[in-house]
Amino acid sequence: MSERLSHDPWWRDSVVYQVYPRSFADSDGDGVGDLRGIVGQVDYLSDLGVDVVWLSPVYASPHDDNGYDISDYYSVDPAFGTLDDLDDLVSALHERGIRIVMDLVVNHTSDEHPWFVESAAGPDSPKRDWYWWRPARAGAVGGQPGAEPTNWGSFFSGSAWQWHEPTGEYYLHLFSRKQPDLNWENPEVREAIYAMMRWWLDRGIDGFRMDVINFISKDPALPDGVVAPGQRWGDGSPHYMSGPRIHEFLQEMRREVFAGRDSTYLTIGEMPGVTIEQARLFTDPARGELDMVFQFEHVALDHGAEGKWSPRELDVVELKTSLARWQEGLADTGWNSLYWSNHDQPRVLSRFGDPDHWYASATALATVLHLQRGTPFIYQGEELGMTNVPFDSIEQFRDIETLNYFHEAVEEHGLAAASVLDALRRASRDNARTPVHWTSDAHAGFTTGEPWIAVHPNHDRINASAQRGRSGSVYEYYRALIALRHTNAVVVDGTFRMLAPEHPAVFAFTRTGDAERLVIAANLSAQSVELPADVDLRGTVLLTNYADPARARLRPWEARVVSQPT
Ligand code: NOJ
Repeated sequence: MSERLSHDPWWRDSVVYQVYPRSFADSDGDGVGDLRGIVGQVDYLSDLGVDVVWLSPVYASPHDDNGYDISDYYSVDPAFGTLDDLDDLVSALHERGIRIVMDLVVNHTSDEHPWFVESAAGPDSPKRDWYWWRPARAGAVGGQPGAEPTNWGSFFSGSAWQWHEPTGEYYLHLFSRKQPDLNWENPEVREAIYAMMRWWLDRGIDGFRMDVINFISKDPALPDGVVAPGQRWGDGSPHYMSGPRIHEFLQEMRREVFAGRDSTYLTIGEMPGVTIEQARLFTDPARGELDMVFQFEHVALDHGAEGKWSPRELDVVELKTSLARWQEGLADTGWNSLYWSNHDQPRVLSRFGDPDHWYASATALATVLHLQRGTPFIYQGEELGMTNVPFDSIEQFRDIETLNYFHEAVEEHGLAAASVLDALRRASRDNARTPVHWTSDAHAGFTTGEPWIAVHPNHDRINASAQRGRSGSVYEYYRALIALRHTNAVVVDGTFRMLAPEHPAVFAFTRTGDAERLVIAANLSAQSVELPADVDLRGTVLLTNYADPARARLRPWEARVVSQPT
């Protein structure tokens, strides 16, 4: 086995694994995953070879949005365990050389957070200005349709403003009405957040994944947004995405929270709508903002005219073009994050892959993602080839975004429930949120109780115990990909160049270092194709998902990685 490389900063050769605690492993039989459940699987993570765990929120929460609505940043929700359990998890990971990054949700709090409770007490509350309170639109009666201070829609359906009868004003919530937006214009808010972040770093964590962090700076004038044809609400995003003070706030955060500490931390900003030009600024080390961002361009390519609920087929050329632009755009300055999946996206295998070519498509997609330049993220179960879920009624869904959309579409817009359900089956976030398949036993070995959301029936075939140690499994392929990043400097630093950019099925590129070139090629289709002329796959085969790779064609979803001298 080749030697493990080491880069500076450490996250350049790291692979991150996202744990969505509610669905990972349940230790106490209440049907909800918990911290002790994760502690029980640290050897699994260590065996897979990942370097970092990103833990989705485990803080105290009313769970309106599964923990992305936090009511106390300093405590662990009893559903997940205790602070001691969290400390044990941090130690168990650190003992195995795995770092841990916590989710940081500070664009909004829960409406049950004491800050908001105090803010809502009245216009004279010392914390009134910690959130965005506004009177009804001039001339309108508060609480009546059309009286909202702006025409912005919420991500979870309806207006982004909630009327608050007791104090006669509205408050802003870009997500659910139980997730009021914090007012970052107020320096006390920022200081309270930085203090909390320092407290977590002192406790031993290794960084933060920052939820919708490019929404924290809003244009204080809060102008109306443009209303697209046929839409009820305006698009407020030009007034809150990467707003006027975003760079200032992130630089201040870097100074106040991270500067002067001995360790090097990892900061990842989730940034819907971020452009390459903006990402370059956010991740330029010289500017002292973030290490990498999550961009959303490639996961929007199968969204139709009305967004994620009106899906369209993926065009492979568009996918390649988009990802290549990001590779090139951040080649000299900044750094990419690489992901197909997370708790907000449907399962990539069902989405961009092909369940009829289950093993080959899972591994082909993994190959073309992991061997780009950047830091790869694996979402729990992706390494097992988990798929979208055959939900057959609305009662089986749990996600607030999904449920709100269903009710709005059916009850307000009169769409047929069956066609809305079709859209949900393809695009709902719940596809990613069903329990991880550990075994073929009842409830996939996730819990001894009744799981909070149904387990996918295909856990009898697709599960960890059937795949670990078994060559030719998706799990072992992911292990090999991770090991390649750890041992081959060209995977980390090599220059990216797209090959055959116009080919409708072959995703191929080179990564070039001083003495070695890697050629990566995958057929993202179910038809056998001829190798494009500029894709030369001679050389030492480092990885392949077909047993006999030496041919001039790529069979359905075949992927190959070869090494050549430069
Ligand atoms: C992005 C998170 O990933 C998502 O799950 C959540 O609903 C919203 N931000 C609001 O926090």
